[in-house]
Amino acid sequence: MKICCIGAGYVGGPTCAVMALKCPDSTVTIVDLNEARIAAWNSDELPIYEPGLYEVVEQVRGRNLFFSTNITKAITEADLIFISVNTPTKTFGVGKGRAADLKYVESAARSIGAAVKQGHKVIVEKSTVPVKAAESISKILKATSALNPSVSFQVLSNPEFLAEGTAIKDLLYPDRVLIGGEQSADGFAAIAKLSSLYESWVPGEKIITMNTWSSELSKLAANAFLAQRISSINAISAVCEETGANVEEVANAVGTDKRIGPYFLKASVGFGGSCFQKDVLNLVYLCECLNLPEVAQYWQQVVDLNEYQRKRFANRIVEALFNTVTNKKITILGFSFKKDTMDTRESSSIFIAKYLMEEGASLTIYDPKVPAKQMYSDLKHPAVCEDEEAVDRLLTISHDPYEATKNAHAIVVCTEWDEFKTYDYERIYKSMQKPAFLFDGRLLLDHSKLQRIGFQVQAVGKKLITLENGYH
Ligand code: UDX
Ligand code: ADP
Repeated sequence: MKICCIGAGYVGGPTCAVMALKCPDSTVTIVDLNEARIAAWNSDELPIYEPGLYEVVEQVRGRNLFFSTNITKAITEADLIFISVNTPTKTFGVGKGRAADLKYVESAARSIGAAVKQGHKVIVEKSTVPVKAAESISKILKATSALNPSVSFQVLSNPEFLAEGTAIKDLLYPDRVLIGGEQSADGFAAIAKLSSLYESWVPGEKIITMNTWSSELSKLAANAFLAQRISSINAISAVCEETGANVEEVANAVGTDKRIGPYFLKASVGFGGSCFQKDVLNLVYLCECLNLPEVAQYWQQVVDLNEYQRKRFANRIVEALFNTVTNKKITILGFSFKKDTMDTRESSSIFIAKYLMEEGASLTIYDPKVPAKQMYSDLKHPAVCEDEEAVDRLLTISHDPYEATKNAHAIVVCTEWDEFKTYDYERIYKSMQKPAFLFDGRLLLDHSKLQRIGFQVQAVGKKLITLENGYH
């Protein structure tokens, strides 16, 4: 089979690299408008960091995996075309701040319509889209086939469930693969075609087929449920901080109930990433459009709670530092939205950094993977900052954790990078201003050890930790 993937991003790149690995008889070409991105995919410095990705790409690139900017050629030659472009939340117009912006999906669909001159093509919607997006893609393509009867299309929904940092594992051993399609003979044939590809490495019982809308909605629902669990435990973390209950103990107790399960119950400074907030808001918008305001409100609360958690954490920092952080050096450890990725989209670190800079803090950020350029671009983004000069004045990016924490009044752990656990905190403590504060937004570090060193430790979901009150 000849496969084309439009969009060489976090979804398209890893998904199609694994597909090329597992389907050696198929040829996979990943195309993108962004020339620099394609050049990076063709180099030793891949444009995204993902554990195990380089090893996969190295095995298949030039064999049956190709990266190209020649979109028309790849579309023309392909039997099966994945659309893996970005679908950010709209920042303008109707549905601003909630609805997904489908301009990239539409432009990919139009590129397909313009390129295909003959034959039958199966189009696979991989990007996370609002329910009924497949119908819009179908309408655009039908306009093409109406003009040219030697062309026909079937549009499928095949949502991605990979989580960044574990994408390769998630792709190699998925919990399930969803394929939604038109419930017609042509639709079933297209579903069977895509399914046959996955069957090269995914057990048949894990490939679930359904109608297109169910598949589209399942993706939104799955992410909404996951985000809801995090907001639920974060809501409990606020109660813990007031009462003296320990959120880790509560999460463990709750999660051992088989009906609830232990995953996604880690209290944090708030969830980030390109999917959760976007998908929940997408669902909210869908419910509003369907005149289901109570359902919309229910899901909106998941996002509102996340914002509340970020603000609450930032307020706690300011309060602990004697109600002022102006001109105080504060060091943020971690800028990516989770460990093992350099992706910063919707990262809680952005909001914590913004808040602290608004309070006049002199901020130093260290992250093992995120480039300085990315941090500046996130913190100077018009949606985040009103005063670019203030960012230049207040922000320092450090490439060394010991340099980053020298003379700091406080350390704020925002991402759960493993390397943060391995630092010499005695050395760090000695180099800091006293009292030396440490705020653990990820419940990552050994708090009692830090306290013994002398740190004033505060952590999400735990009452103020002091040696006296026994929280060590
Ligand atoms: C998510 C979904 O997991 C994946 O199935 C989907 O296809 C894409 O969106 P991703 O956003 O890459 O994946 O990462 P995920 O592991 O879900 O984490 C999202 C955010 O939630 C991160 O900021 C993470 O740190 C946070 N999180 C996760 C918590 O705060 N607590 C938890 O218990 C789990
Ligand atoms: P995701 O996390 O959904 O993969 P990314 O932003 O990482 O999102 O990647 C999406 C990619 O899709 C980008 O590299 C972007 O240049 C590409 N893209 C967007 N629209 C088109 C299009 N019409 N044709 C080709 N590539 C596109």
